[in-house]
Amino acid sequence: MTWTLVPAAGSGRRFGGEVPKQYLRAAGKPLIEHALEALLSHPGVDGAVVALAEGDARWPGWTSLHGKPVITCSGGGERADSVLAALLALPAGTTDNELLLVHDAARPNLHATDIAALIAAANGCADGAILAAPVRDTLKRAGAGNPDGNPCIAATESRDGLWRALTPQAFRRDLLRRALERARADGLVATDEAMAVERLGRHPALVEGREDNLKVTTPADLALAEFLLARHA
Ligand code: C5P
Repeated sequence: MTWTLVPAAGSGRRFGGEVPKQYLRAAGKPLIEHALEALLSHPGVDGAVVALAEGDARWPGWTSLHGKPVITCSGGGERADSVLAALLALPAGTTDNELLLVHDAARPNLHATDIAALIAAANGCADGAILAAPVRDTLKRAGAGNPDGNPCIAATESRDGLWRALTPQAFRRDLLRRALERARADGLVATDEAMAVERLGRHPALVEGREDNLKVTTPADLALAEFLLARHA
């Protein structure tokens, strides 16, 4: 059995506006519906736990999709709190060895080929695996501002060996739970699951994923998602 945990309890502060970004629409559906459809239509995924904000009135109330169970729980103050809450809401009978795929509700353009590659890699690596993409741009470190208010370049950083972490990220339940609980106890805000797992001395695999598996964070991302999803459909 492989379940997916979908943190969807964010308020979308960085996007602005009153609709949390997981409920913004692209190609006729909310982003979260695209994300859940992509996950649950995959034969390797057996069910989903979705972490929602307290009092979320926009959740459509799905209890199943593609004939697979959809469970909800209350999320937490940070993304990692929402992921841990979802993990703890898995059905009774879920084993420590269960593979879990954590995927952002605001990443609507997930392809089946990436899910399959991730599951295959995670099954071969006890430390788990994540989808990721090599950094392509030249990286500049910003220094002090100039009189226009634009920061000046302090240095060019090497991009050798740097990857951007995407989702889904796949870990065994026991490892993910220990990693998230330890990060919380240490007061660390993990911005992805791998970061919490790495702190236990583990080395999850990087699985090269599609660059168009974008997380919607800005209005420009939403326009791009609309374009990609219209072609994907
Ligand atoms: O804000 P960010 O882009 O990191 O959010 C990524 C995902 O985590 C989104 O799907 C968002 O709804 C979710 N999230 C959450 N609980 C929070 C903050 C974010 O479930 N407290």
